[in-house]
Amino acid sequence: MAPVLLYGPHQGYPPLRRELAQWLSEVYSPPTGATTMDRICITNGASGNLANVLIKFTDPSYTRRIFMVEPTYFLACPIFEDCGFLGKLRGVPETVQDGVDIDFLRRELENAELDARNACLRSGQKDEPAAKCGPCYPHVYKYVIYLVPTYSNPSGKTVSVAMRKQLVLLAREFDALLITDDVYDFLSWQEDTESAHDAVAKPPPRLVDIDRSLPGGSVHGNCVSNGSFSKLIGPGVRVGWAEGTPAFVSQLAEVGSSSSGGAPSHLASTFVEHMLRTQWLQHYIRDILVPTYKERYCALMTAIADRLIPLGYAMEAKILSGTADETSGVAGGFFTYLRLPLGLPFAKVVAAIALKDHALRIAFGHMFTVAGDHGSVARAEADGGFAYCVRLCWAWHEADEIQEGVLRLAAVTKDVRARVERGEDVAAGISIGIR
Ligand SMILES: Cc1ncc(COP(=O)(O)O)c(C=O)c1O
Repeated sequence: MAPVLLYGPHQGYPPLRRELAQWLSEVYSPPTGATTMDRICITNGASGNLANVLIKFTDPSYTRRIFMVEPTYFLACPIFEDCGFLGKLRGVPETVQDGVDIDFLRRELENAELDARNACLRSGQKDEPAAKCGPCYPHVYKYVIYLVPTYSNPSGKTVSVAMRKQLVLLAREFDALLITDDVYDFLSWQEDTESAHDAVAKPPPRLVDIDRSLPGGSVHGNCVSNGSFSKLIGPGVRVGWAEGTPAFVSQLAEVGSSSSGGAPSHLASTFVEHMLRTQWLQHYIRDILVPTYKERYCALMTAIADRLIPLGYAMEAKILSGTADETSGVAGGFFTYLRLPLGLPFAKVVAAIALKDHALRIAFGHMFTVAGDHGSVARAEADGGFAYCVRLCWAWHEADEIQEGVLRLAAVTKDVRARVERGEDVAAGISIGIR
């Protein structure tokens, strides 16, 4: 037992890295060949690793912007802010077609580059990292692009393969690091199969695999995949992994807190290794997790179709977007995003009334704006914006509770609509925390 109770190797428990490499190779079948353990660093989950990546590979004096695909996973915002990027976060709209408005992103990158060059000309300072320099920081990126490309939290959208390639090429062009939270990839199912066992569907290729397979990649690469066991075993386990080029992950492993404390979550990572090595986790995902989520997903979709669509709700996006043949008939993740019926106020008002008068808690569009970006709020609040949407989750509740929740949402909707028709100012006095 001594090795598991001592400080773990900085890059993580080698048997877990080996098991993970094998499992990831099976799940993704990367086109360039199997995932090898030198591409993997064990983490204490996607959140902690996001902070470590920023500590090791960004410098607020040099890294110009953090781009976050919006509606965004809002709890990532304070991680970026803690790492020195307060006021430097910018939203990039999702699109229904491909998943990301890449023309918008390119324009923003070009503008930020111009601003940075002009600032250097004015100040006479060199365009180089001021704080993170020297051998401990072999590559500091100019930009970060953050997204949840598969079954996004909150929108449920999946970015098409074609767009994934475009993102990798754009990141290479602008020296950007794509950080992808790939935490829902394993929860994917065919909608039309009856049998639980053949329900599991293959996730699309990760951006990190695309970065590996396209010629012309750099030593540190332009993409890191942030994986986690939180959605597979439970968030309390605090074990995850990062995958990137061998140079990237070995540098990530040398973040100061790992140099001092050893690999994060070392003891727990030995338990996870046992679960993977014995195939327990693989069977659990296939036989318990996916069938359970599929059943709850179906309960939610049926309830939405029966109770909410007749009231004027619309599914904001299919669970998967992209080219039809790439994605049809596959669903997954935790969430779906619904647009409120026309004439209703912002979803945050509906959510406040739902909580106060109907004991129903729902997540609303304003929560998913990018912190400190006025453009993100303006886009959310514009006609057709995501502030008029709610996020519903099928993962936590049993099917009968999901049905009850949707019944309550239908009642809230009728209630709010009646108040609006009576000319009441429904937003007056409403206050609901965004974060
Ligand atoms: C997109 C996304 N990233 C990260 C996390 C948190 O992951 P972890 O528990 O591994 O820190 C979540 C949890 O909801 C999530 O939805």
